Amino acid sequence: MRKQIVAANWKMNGTLEQANSLLDAFAAAPLTVNENKIAVFAVPAPYLMLAKEKLSGNPYLQAAAQNCYSKKSGAYTGEISVEILRSIGISYVVLGHSERREYFAESNAFLAEKVNIALAYNITPIFCCGEPLAIREAETQNAYVATQLEESLFHLSAEEVAKIVIAYEPIWAIGTGKTASSAQAQEMHASIREVLAAKYGAAVAAGISILYGGSVKASNAVEIFGQPDVDGGLVGGASLIVDEFIQIINA
Ligand code: 13P
Repeated sequence: MRKQIVAANWKMNGTLEQANSLLDAFAAAPLTVNENKIAVFAVPAPYLMLAKEKLSGNPYLQAAAQNCYSKKSGAYTGEISVEILRSIGISYVVLGHSERREYFAESNAFLAEKVNIALAYNITPIFCCGEPLAIREAETQNAYVATQLEESLFHLSAEEVAKIVIAYEPIWAIGTGKTASSAQAQEMHASIREVLAAKYGAAVAAGISILYGGSVKASNAVEIFGQPDVDGGLVGGASLIVDEFIQIINA
């Protein structure tokens, strides 16, 4: 059975004081997590060790990096390697978020390199895909997302791809308050699973968790997560509000 995952993406938000109080609150909250339902916290890099420590009492709460570089180590000032992440015990990294693609020009080919090195260090990529508004309006979103998957993931073996988590985040729904309808989310998630099945077979595709992201809130989480091909969420704004995010995890 595939895992259900709710991942917080704090993005570039929160002072140390706020990070401390959020992490303390989530560590103490009554969360319905277990080995098949986990919560992941992608915090700003300076708080990774803090998050590790604060969440250490519950194995189903995990800290994640928001990005990593494609090289093992070296003269890449300002970047963070998977070797560094692994050395501090981090097991998840968000890769290919639309903000990284847009503001830092990360291409599908570059993301393929990042996926490779993360897997080589036993760090699970939470691989983000999703279309901009113009593509949705042209109704070519399924092909657009399929190309993102093909160009960044399809060089992997079935055994490798089975270790990836996919997050579908329609760009027009990120931080806009405009959520994809549960039907739109389900339709895309089913399409992603079909694309994976065509390449890797139905059994492999059925085992891969596909998260939805884009204005997930406590008020819409139950309905979106209730779709058969939606296995959880990647949550921005609402993950910084304790009561909201507790409800989203428990949804
Ligand atoms: P919002 O939940 O703020 O729309 O952000 C979604 C997102 O980008 C998570 O990675």
